[in-house]
Amino acid sequence: MEPQIPQAEAAPAHPPLESLAARPLLDPDYEARPAVFYDELRAEYGPVAPVDVLGVPVWLVIGYPQTLEILRDTRGVWSRRVDSWRAYREGTVPADWPLLPVVEAGNCGFRDGADSTRLRSAWSEGLRPFQDRSRPEAKALEEAVRRYADELIDVLGENNGRAGTADLAAQYARPLPLMVVGRLLGTGPDDDDGLIADLWRVMDAGPDAQEASARLLARMSEVCAARIAAPGQDLPSFMLAAVPDLTAEELAVEMAMMTGLVGDVTGTLICNTITEVLIGETGARDSVSAGMVQEAINRASTANPPMANLALRWPRSDVRIGRFQIAAGDPVMVSPAAAHLDPAFTGNAAPDSIYSSRAHLAWSAGPHACLGRDLATTITTVAVERLFERFTGLRLALPPDRLDWRTSPLIRGLRSLPVDYELAGEPSRPAPAAPETGEDPQEADGAETEPASLARRILRAMRLSQG
Ligand code: HEM
Repeated sequence: MEPQIPQAEAAPAHPPLESLAARPLLDPDYEARPAVFYDELRAEYGPVAPVDVLGVPVWLVIGYPQTLEILRDTRGVWSRRVDSWRAYREGTVPADWPLLPVVEAGNCGFRDGADSTRLRSAWSEGLRPFQDRSRPEAKALEEAVRRYADELIDVLGENNGRAGTADLAAQYARPLPLMVVGRLLGTGPDDDDGLIADLWRVMDAGPDAQEASARLLARMSEVCAARIAAPGQDLPSFMLAAVPDLTAEELAVEMAMMTGLVGDVTGTLICNTITEVLIGETGARDSVSAGMVQEAINRASTANPPMANLALRWPRSDVRIGRFQIAAGDPVMVSPAAAHLDPAFTGNAAPDSIYSSRAHLAWSAGPHACLGRDLATTITTVAVERLFERFTGLRLALPPDRLDWRTSPLIRGLRSLPVDYELAGEPSRPAPAAPETGEDPQEADGAETEPASLARRILRAMRLSQG
């Protein structure tokens, strides 16, 4: 592959980013048809384009080879520390810029070098029991996800009838991974309603998102302090065992990130995969019919990666990308969603192939690549499998071009997924399972207990948080 960042070549003279970024990333064109938006940018600017992200000028990288090279960062050019941002150091980033809490969060996504390595090793060791399928925790988690999926489908059938219309985002794809969050944290469902309600407020970036976010972090601090005092068989305890000098504060910040990655991003992938199957244009339906759910997930990840654009990176020195010279400390957002539409990427794929390209960048790549990919894939696979096993009929209740997408510079996900459905057979009665940490044994045995069922509690908490 030819080098994508020919730094030696003289850059054409052009004004700085601040005077170039005219086109807003978030406009109705982008939300409704991001592919058209990215294609227009590509035609006008090439593989990198100056855009305005909620009032802040940013370079948006839309070429596939350029995105891959930046993510791999083999030359050590790219920093993720917010203090690498020139405008931030100079105090010219507006204090109320909505993405500031993301880039200032201080979690492992925004660390460099040894700091990043230390936190990443806590993550990979901490997640291992849940991701290595030979481990009992991973098997128990997979069984729990299946049980949660069945509970949610049972509740949907009881509330909406054996056939009718439903919102699979609100009634299935979002609550399911939220049920996993409490399990990973080792908290029982008994005291989880507040956490879930707050997580939901943060996800929807509503008027009380800041307060909810502060409460979420405070709640994570409590959980992590308890795990430090008395470790258990949960993610924070396993991370701590791997890196014993992790402080309660560090652990809390990572767990706050986890609630977003499991609760929001994984829910988005479930929703996007179901949608891709129901639209049926990219072969995802054939993949599910052939029993290849992971292939359907691949196709959905290519068509609509949940993390469409990745929060900022900054070059340590000037770099040339395409037609532009990116100055050291300029903010750069790479876009897996746009990269997947680059002819350099799409040109290699046979459109009717039953196997999609696995070279997609939905999990990122390189030193900051996703560490929870196997966990997210397991949750999504079970969710999609159970759905298509339990519903005999499932159709979009709207034409695909009328689906309502969230307004977000980072996430590509639906606000709602309205479907017409028919349910097969009787409600599930899963086999008894061992009680989970802190979980009411009555719930763990799968019995549909009114009103204590975990599914009902989560759905109720979600309604409360939206009300
Ligand atoms: C469908 C769900 C998920 C998707 C699409 C996804 C994708 C990604 C992407 C694109 C990144 C890079 C972000 C960036 O560079 O700005 C990332 C980072 C990360 N992901 Fe995931 N992720 C998912 C779920 C999860 C889950 C469930 C976990 C763990 C519980 C997880 C753990 C991580 C961690 C720790 C990082 C930070 C790595 C670093 O910066 O060094 N992810 N993920």
